Amino acid sequence: MADSLEVVAAEVLACSQCPLHSGRTNSVPGEGPSNAKIMFIGEGPGFHEDQSGRPFVGASGNFLSEMLDMINLNRSEVFIANVVKCRPPGNRDPEPVEIETCTTSYLYRQIELIDPRVIVTLGRFSMALWFPSARISRIHGQPKKVGSRLIVPFFHPAAALHQRSLRDTLIEDFTKLPGFVAQVEAGLQNASDVNDETPPEEPQQLSLF
Ligand code: URA
Repeated sequence: MADSLEVVAAEVLACSQCPLHSGRTNSVPGEGPSNAKIMFIGEGPGFHEDQSGRPFVGASGNFLSEMLDMINLNRSEVFIANVVKCRPPGNRDPEPVEIETCTTSYLYRQIELIDPRVIVTLGRFSMALWFPSARISRIHGQPKKVGSRLIVPFFHPAAALHQRSLRDTLIEDFTKLPGFVAQVEAGLQNASDVNDETPPEEPQQLSLF
């Protein structure tokens, strides 16, 4: 059978490949159209996502929706997923083996099927899939060309809810997103210019997200 988002979602719902499955109420495959131009990748389901089976429906999800509204994007136009599809107990960080299992089994297939022009990583766990040694405080808001798409690291909305200065930074980064989409659709002409800049040294910021 040809692979599809529905096949991936059905496998996620039945998954028992890593220890996270045993504590879940629902797994959270992700949602959005199969032809989304923009894909957001968070860390993993929290309490509300585990209860509902849907990504980003709690406080950080509301904030994400607000920022999408701000740039005239509707949630229904973008694909929203997570690095791991089941809630880590007590919202602990996902373990490397859980990340490896879940991304190779599901997330990378979703990316291949959707083939988004822009992937926005929310927080350090999804950023690390592409930039394992980067510091989010240094590279947030800066698009990187990877193959034919842009990867854009953003702070996690939950981090921004905890720290006022990050909230302003995340809002500012979101305002740049439509320009990045336009840039990639125009053939990525300016992406390398952006990447060539050495990011300025920034003070240590919250590294939890
Ligand atoms: N945080 C995440 O990283 N993902 C969600 O779906 C919700 C909160």
